[in-house]
Amino acid sequence: MEIKKRALITGVSGFVGKYLIGKLYEENYEIFGTTLSGDLYDDPRVTKLHLDLTDYYSTNKIIGEIEPDEIYHLASQSSVKISWEKPQFTTEVNSIGTINLLESVKEHCPKTKVLLVGSSEEYGETFKINKQPTEEEKCFPNNMYAITKYTQSLIGKMYVKAYHLNIIMTRSFNHVGPEQSPQFVISDFCKQVAEIELLESNPIIYVGNLESARDFLDVRDVVNAYYELLKEGTVGEIYNVGSGKSYKISELLNKIISFSNLDIIVKIDKNKFRPVEIEETSAEISKIISDTKWRPQYNLEETILNTLNFWRKKVIEKQMKLNRKL
Ligand code: GDD
Repeated sequence: MEIKKRALITGVSGFVGKYLIGKLYEENYEIFGTTLSGDLYDDPRVTKLHLDLTDYYSTNKIIGEIEPDEIYHLASQSSVKISWEKPQFTTEVNSIGTINLLESVKEHCPKTKVLLVGSSEEYGETFKINKQPTEEEKCFPNNMYAITKYTQSLIGKMYVKAYHLNIIMTRSFNHVGPEQSPQFVISDFCKQVAEIELLESNPIIYVGNLESARDFLDVRDVVNAYYELLKEGTVGEIYNVGSGKSYKISELLNKIISFSNLDIIVKIDKNKFRPVEIEETSAEISKIISDTKWRPQYNLEETILNTLNFWRKKVIEKQMKLNRKL
C-alpha cells in the first residue's frame, strides 16, 4: 500500500490555506491543519485542530503527535494595516509563533521540510533604491508586519545553520482571488462595488492611497509556488514569489469599476492611509524560475473578475438571509 506524505498547514482556515488544501489533496497528501479561530468544519480532505501558536506547550504537543513530512507555515497576522494598530500582537504571532513551531520541529521531527512564508514588505526602503530587488539585496523593513517577517527569515536561517533544519523561505508579494479577506485592497474594492450594485442607492466607494503600486499573483499561482518550493527549493534559501509585474492601485480600482454598469463615485478616506508606505513593489523572480518548474499561469484581470463575482454572490446571499429574518 502506498504511504501518503503528511503535510501540516498552519493557519489552514486563512485565504491561502483554503487553496493549499486543494493542491495537496490533488497531490495525494494526508493533510492536517491548525487554526486559531476558524471552524473545524467538516472537510473530509483535512484534519483540523485548534492551535494558538504562541502557546509553546500546545504547539509542541501537536507537532509531536503529527510528525509531518512537510509544514507550510501560513499562520500569521498578515495585514500591514492591522500591524500599525496591534504591533505587540503582530510580533507575538509572527515571531514567537515561528520560534515555537521550529523548536517543536527540532525536538520531534528535525528532518521535516518547513516552508516559512515571508513578505515582499521585508525589503521596505530597499524598493526606493532598487525597484526589483533580488533575494540577496539588503532589507530595510519599515512597519511592524515587515519587521516581524524579516525577523522570521533571520530565525529560519539560524535554525538551518545551527540545527540543520530543512527550512525554505519565501518573500511573497501580494496575492488575490475569491475568498480573500476584505482587509486587502482588491477584495476590499470588489466587496464595496458588489454592495453598491445590490443597494444602488449610495454609489460611493471609499479608498486609501491610490498612488502605490503592487505586484499581484493569483492565489492558485501562490500555492503552486509553495508546493514546488518545498519539492525543489534549496534549504536555507529565500525565494521571491510574485509575478514580476506591478500595477498602480488606481489602475486596479478603475478596472474593478469598469466591470460594473453603475456610475461609482470614488472618495478618498484618510483613515485608510498608513503612516509609512512603500510606493511600488515588483518581484524579481529569476531564482524561483531557475530552481523550480513553477511559472505564473493565471491572468490578473480574470482573477479580479472572479473576485468581484465571488463578492456579488456573497452580498446577495447575506441580503437574502437578512430578508428571511425580517
Ligand atoms: N486594504 C486597502 N484598502 N488597501 C488600500 C486601499 C483600501 O481601500 N486603498 C489603497 N490601498 C493600498 C494600500 O495603501 C497599499 O499600498 C496597497 O493598496 C495594498 O494594500 P493591501 O491589500 O492591504 O496589502 P499590503 O500590500 O499592505 O500587504 C499585502 O501584501 C504583502 C506582500 O506585498 C498583504 O497580503 C501582506 O500579508 C503581504 O505580505
